[in-house]
Amino acid sequence: MQLNLDNNQPAGIQTECLVIGITEGGPLSPAAEAVDEASGGAISRMLEGGDINTGLGKTSFLPGLPGLATQRVLAAGFGKQEKLDLARFDRGCLAVGKALRDHPLTNCHVCVHDVEFGEIDIAHRLKQAALSIHRANYLYTATKTLKEDAPAPVLTASFQGGEDLQAAINQADAFASGFEKARNLGDLPPNICNPAYLAQDAESIAAQYENVKLEILEEDDMSELGMDALLSISSGSANSAKFIILKYSGAADDQQPVALVGKGITFDSGGLSLKSGENMMQMKYDMCGAAGVIGAFVACAKLQMPVNVICIVVAVENMPDGAACRPGDVVTSMSGKTIEVLNTDAEGRLVLCDALTYCQKFNPDVIIDAATLTGACVIALGHHATGLISNDDALAEDLLAAGQSIVDRAWRLPLWEEYQTQLDSPFADMKNIGGMPGGVLTAACFLSRFAEDQRWAHLDVAGSAWKWGGDDGATGRPAGLLAQYLLDRSSQGL
Ligand code: BES
Ligand code: MN
Ligand code: ZN
Repeated sequence: MQLNLDNNQPAGIQTECLVIGITEGGPLSPAAEAVDEASGGAISRMLEGGDINTGLGKTSFLPGLPGLATQRVLAAGFGKQEKLDLARFDRGCLAVGKALRDHPLTNCHVCVHDVEFGEIDIAHRLKQAALSIHRANYLYTATKTLKEDAPAPVLTASFQGGEDLQAAINQADAFASGFEKARNLGDLPPNICNPAYLAQDAESIAAQYENVKLEILEEDDMSELGMDALLSISSGSANSAKFIILKYSGAADDQQPVALVGKGITFDSGGLSLKSGENMMQMKYDMCGAAGVIGAFVACAKLQMPVNVICIVVAVENMPDGAACRPGDVVTSMSGKTIEVLNTDAEGRLVLCDALTYCQKFNPDVIIDAATLTGACVIALGHHATGLISNDDALAEDLLAAGQSIVDRAWRLPLWEEYQTQLDSPFADMKNIGGMPGGVLTAACFLSRFAEDQRWAHLDVAGSAWKWGGDDGATGRPAGLLAQYLLDRSSQGL
């Protein structure tokens, strides 16, 4: 979707659909007021007659209104004025994007960001509106035969506003590209999106954007580096692992980079600790952490943010063949620490630990990993919040704030040393599982042992990275949170 600005009077804008925001009990927004006036009070009459649903996320197409250059108006409900906040605004905007996509339109003009609420300024509202509408306009098509009457995404959306809002549009556009990249990778089936595919895709990213370099380590390289924890998971698969390193240099060489590390298990069968059929069905999404960091990287490179970023993707398939790791095996990680692998389905931490060790050679200022790491995180936080665990309060605060501001929210969980004892092993430096209690925390405890003396945060996106059971698909999270974090850092000039 192409995003641009248009500062003409809404009533005079020639478009297939003019989108206005309506709240319950609030005053008409400037655009709604202008449409009402030009149409001889049509909006007021329909509101009185109950023909416009003002509920949050409700949309009403109003065709053929007099006095307007548009073919139809889309009235978007934002619910009660006094309850409106950024998260609710985002839901209203997502509904707009869906309504537009499910109607045969090629262009539209959007004014919803003129609805005021809280302390949120117009640029922020515009960025959120443009990003959410763009996101909701996404349609997966890669492996579908398209029917002629299928819904089609809207090609261009102009937003009410002048040049002073260009930065907000540019950010929305870049973030949307990041989300779209993450969702596309997440949604692709595991027979297509395997480790080699992720490596190829990284090549195309490196070719597309300025100041991006790419390095890919093969299994021989990983073996030489001593990444035996990672390789123990890859060994059961016919698809060899790829260790992908994307580097973006947007700031001076001496500025320490942010290291983003993504779990890229392109399919998680569980290995010899095989998952049940029911639990395996969704495991193409087990590379969504990788997709999220790649998405943030794309947003960063598209905006050419003044930061340095190292984005590492551990692309591995977890399968159970004769060479697969056995429960009971003890493996030595790149750090030298030994691990008793009691459950081959706790594979994410085994591939991530070697990536956490490796990335320290770049002398990062902070390390942030993203992973669909534990079912326990889904139990703890459900599908709306990403789990955040960190050994650094300032970093945790910055990530929470970034997530709030782009409505890609995380919630912090504790990393108390008491939990660490659950990983004690009689046969190695640690076990790879910590039992049922606090599964999301012991997984993070495991990772923390490979980020000692580093400012490190872990994002468990097991519940937030995709939807299942209606409106299925990858969400692209946490691409937005991470891209916003990078942007916040760059505007602080860190
Ligand atoms: N990829 C899964 C985690 C997962 C499960 C994410 C369900 C989303 C939905 C991970 O590799 C895994 O299997 N974790 C195990 C760990 C356990 C064996 C300690 C889990 O959560 O059951
Ligand atoms: Mn697993
Ligand atoms: Zn997994």
